[in-house]
Amino acid sequence: MSDSIILGIETSCDETAVGIVQGRTLLANVIASSVDEHARFGGVVPEIASRAHLEAMLPTIEKALRDSKVTLADIDAIAVTAGPGLVGALLVGTSAATGLALGLGKPIYGVNHLAAHISVDALAHRHPLESTIALLVSGGHSSLLQINDITSSIAQLGATMDDAAGEAFDKISRVMGLGFPGGPAIDRTALDGDPEAIDFPRGLTQPSDWRTRPFDFSFSGLKTAVARYLEATPDFHKANVAASFQEAIVDVLLLKALAACKESGIDSLLIAGGVAANSRLRALASQRCEKSGVRLRIPRPDLCTDNGAMVAALGSLMVMAGRPGSQIDFEATSSLPVTTLSLTS
Ligand code: KG4
Ligand code: ZN
Repeated sequence: MSDSIILGIETSCDETAVGIVQGRTLLANVIASSVDEHARFGGVVPEIASRAHLEAMLPTIEKALRDSKVTLADIDAIAVTAGPGLVGALLVGTSAATGLALGLGKPIYGVNHLAAHISVDALAHRHPLESTIALLVSGGHSSLLQINDITSSIAQLGATMDDAAGEAFDKISRVMGLGFPGGPAIDRTALDGDPEAIDFPRGLTQPSDWRTRPFDFSFSGLKTAVARYLEATPDFHKANVAASFQEAIVDVLLLKALAACKESGIDSLLIAGGVAANSRLRALASQRCEKSGVRLRIPRPDLCTDNGAMVAALGSLMVMAGRPGSQIDFEATSSLPVTTLSLTS
């Protein structure tokens, strides 16, 4: 029997995204982004995002079906982001998904956006992910996780105490005048800079922090340090500031991720979420993991930032593991914790 075909819908933030996956094979991945409509506000405006999702939903589903050369009748289950995210934006996706599931008479999986970021890894590998430490770094979340089976449970080892890593990129980009979203802008600008030009602070890496909060992050001190530096240095060198700031974030993320591997005795690291698209994080992770004998997995850059394939991938893993779907009236939950993989009631 051939693998089930899953259609996944993602609308937690500013991307209306639909992916279609068969087993572990990606058939289609279509993204309509409203990012340009938010750029002049310097961040995502929830009301604008919800309206853009409404307009883009049907064309995006239709394009995904065309790209994958399957019809709605071929779809075996629907997966949709149930949270965390902007509630108005989530509701557009969950309404479309429940409508489809009811119309087709197929099961629905209301899944966790963060677990979906991690699950997209399944599309690049034939075999299930073994026990791994996962570094999840996005615009809204930064956590270190321990995962044995992504369809059954996730344990959180640590998380950010203030800003998420992507949020820090976005805020510093704004004060540097590099635009929104900040991550890609800083990544590009840093290419011409010296990462050692300015010694910015590495949050929660003092000896006492390693004793009490070894796997937590804090980026607010770094943010303040960069803002002060910019104020005190009117003719600052953009590329050097971007490279040094990026280095401080990436260094701490990897120090803590590799410490988690060592402490848990797990020699596998998966990095996921929008910030995992960062070129310096990818390069330094591969150097340091090689040195430490840790196997590294990072999804290809376009599957790190928000997409529908990741939602379909988690739905597909759930179906392959024989997990039950959600009740048709499950509720989108804006603050869904990373440890809740899917809504079962
Ligand atoms: O996972 P994601 O697409 O959306 C959320 O779930 O939040 O992550 C978006 C975040 C933004 O903060 C964006 O600036 C950051 O990921 N990001 C990057 C890069 N590409 C996206 N950060 C650093 N370097 C990048 N190349
Ligand atoms: Zn995301």
